[in-house]
Amino acid sequence: MTSKTALVTGGSSGMGLAIARKLKALGMDVTVFDLQPPPEELRYFAVDIRRDSQIKAALAELPRLDILVNNAGVYFEKYLEDTTDEDLDTMVDINLKGTYRMTRDALPMLLKSRGSVVTIASCLGVVPELTSPLYCATKAGLVMLTKCLAQQYADRGVRVNCVLPGPIDTPLLQRSFPDEETARRCAARIPLRRIGQPEDVAAMVAFLVSDEASYITGGAFPVDGGVSSSSLYSK
Ligand SMILES: NC(=O)c1ccc[n+]([C@@H]2O[C@H](COP(=O)([O-])OP(=O)(O)OC[C@H]3O[C@@H](n4cnc5c(N)ncnc54)[C@H](O)[C@@H]3O)[C@@H](O)[C@H]2O)c1
Repeated sequence: MTSKTALVTGGSSGMGLAIARKLKALGMDVTVFDLQPPPEELRYFAVDIRRDSQIKAALAELPRLDILVNNAGVYFEKYLEDTTDEDLDTMVDINLKGTYRMTRDALPMLLKSRGSVVTIASCLGVVPELTSPLYCATKAGLVMLTKCLAQQYADRGVRVNCVLPGPIDTPLLQRSFPDEETARRCAARIPLRRIGQPEDVAAMVAFLVSDEASYITGGAFPVDGGVSSSSLYSK
């Protein structure tokens, strides 16, 4: 993996930071695009994935690109009847349009390197959370985007996969838990009985972008403690 160059969006916090650290530890040349700078030494460009001109200007600074990790995203809970047009625009602009735009703009570089894309969707892209239909819909869109792009570019050597994290201990999740008791109740309902760590997701990303995964494309891989495979008949 030593010579590969990787770009992680939203790599300054939570899962993105763990992914950037992991890929760097594997010897890759890692760049972060984020709204805020990373808390440690990583090549960083201030890029809002809602802004095409910012993405293109930063990509032009990179000599090559082998790996794109689409991780930047936002989460909030709103029932349908409480969702404002502003909420709708924010969530769709970042989670869906931002990821779409980022991938489109990076595509020429990825085709050149016969590279690979991993998008951080969510288990909520395949199982519903009633308090966040809009978030679920954007993440479901990313699962389908992954399948379409995987089919479209497979014969040109570009692999495209997505990861479906369950609850992972990051600032995003911490913001949605009002207290420790809520976190404990959440963990108790997860089949593996714990909230995931950002490193659990980083390990999956590192595998998917590696040569070990060279026969894997179009996949949506849960890293969710068993949440998306649980059912009425689970314990
Ligand atoms: N934490 C969870 O439980 C969980 C579960 C499933 C999926 N996810 C997904 O994982 C991804 C990472 O989430 P996290 O929990 O690490 O969140 P986080 O809030 O800790 O980190 C998200 C990062 O994305 C950046 N970002 C946000 N909007 C951006 C934009 N427009 N342009 C560039 N950067 C932007 C933020 O500045 C931040 O650094 C998100 O896509 C999220 O939806 C999180």
